[in-house]
Amino acid sequence: MRGIVFDGHEALVTDALEVQDPGPKEVQIRTVAAGVCHSDLSVIDGTIPFPPPVVLGHEGAGVVEAVGSEVRSVKPGDHVVVATLASCGTCRACSTGHPTRCRRSLGNVSTPFTYEGRPAYNFAAASVFAERTVVQEVQAVRIPADVPLTSACLIGCGVLTGVGAVLNRARVRPGETAAVFGVGGVGLNVIQGLRIAGATRIVGVDTVAAKEELARQFGATDFVDASAGDAAERVRALVPPDRDRASGALAPTGGVTWAFDCVGHPAVLRSALDSLDWGGTAVAIGIPPRGAEVAVDVNALAYVDRGLLGNRYGSARPHHDIPLMVDLYQTGRLLLDELVTLTRPLTAFGEVIDEMHAGRVARGVLTFD
Ligand SMILES: NC(=O)c1ccc[n+]([C@@H]2O[C@H](COP(=O)([O-])OP(=O)(O)OC[C@H]3O[C@@H](n4cnc5c(N)ncnc54)[C@H](O)[C@@H]3O)[C@@H](O)[C@H]2O)c1
Ligand SMILES: [Zn+2]
Ligand SMILES: [Zn+2]
Repeated sequence: MRGIVFDGHEALVTDALEVQDPGPKEVQIRTVAAGVCHSDLSVIDGTIPFPPPVVLGHEGAGVVEAVGSEVRSVKPGDHVVVATLASCGTCRACSTGHPTRCRRSLGNVSTPFTYEGRPAYNFAAASVFAERTVVQEVQAVRIPADVPLTSACLIGCGVLTGVGAVLNRARVRPGETAAVFGVGGVGLNVIQGLRIAGATRIVGVDTVAAKEELARQFGATDFVDASAGDAAERVRALVPPDRDRASGALAPTGGVTWAFDCVGHPAVLRSALDSLDWGGTAVAIGIPPRGAEVAVDVNALAYVDRGLLGNRYGSARPHHDIPLMVDLYQTGRLLLDELVTLTRPLTAFGEVIDEMHAGRVARGVLTFD
């Protein structure tokens, strides 16, 4: 069957793949559509080290083709979004509603595929850049058949991560303010998560000035072109400090309550921290190369309650959050169709990568016809 394999040197579109039959608790899915997330590109450029050969793709939706003997929650023909968390369901993290912290859900690579007859790894327990993939039952989350799979696939990573970072991790409240560094597939979902949460000022920040229109479409109230000077300073100027009630004097700093790094570069995370008001918190979502560090002025945190949080996969609980995203979409509050600005067959993977690097897409989607 066809798919995209990273062989340790380059990403290849191949038809030399096979996938195993589902085990008792596994589900085989015919992939219909898959979004290209920056994390796939990060495997190719070495930012995310991964053993080759590996079948890429982790943001997908499709139709259940076959189920193992013990599977009860889905059946052949069901439409599903693939969640990347192969969580165990029984550990303390899973039992307390934190499957993103399940030890079994990270680094549990297996080889359900063969590439040219040799074992090939799955990426993010998903590998949706293949005509068929095999996942754990817990990862196949049923959705209504009338939701277009070319839009639904994006829920599998970018939407859960971005909206979840706002609603589950930060728990942003109405009236709070935010800056979103990186207006890509993840950042746009942070922006619409902030809109849904009732944030009043939402500043999109990107080095590509043309992202302003998309940022505003998804809910940004302001935009800062990060290629034109100190982005943090301009965010603080846009969200100025309160005035002292008695004297009318400005407080010493302005800035936002929340700043989300959706790029994955230490300098961007530092900029996010520098854009915070007193009591503000930066959220690290972007994934830099392993070992990357950021320097922080500890006094700037300790004196005035600033903070820094990391966030994996929007702290998602997929069986709650995927149906929630579908509800928000069907009631017109979550933009999904508008995220898909490029749809191409699997064979045009290279073109989608080029368009992403050029900053010309919200999300590119691969199809399998
Ligand atoms: N923590 C998680 O669970 C998780 C999940 C998904 C993706 N990610 C990571 O999130 C990051 C973003 O992924 P994506 O798919 O949205 O990427 P993307 O390529 O769609 O978007 C990245 C955006 O950042 C912009 N950008 C680049 N450098 C910038 C800078 N210095 N300042 C401001 N903007 C800049 C680009 O122009 C682009 O618009 C990646 O590092 C990815 O690996 C993390
Ligand atoms: Zn992703
Ligand atoms: Zn667990």
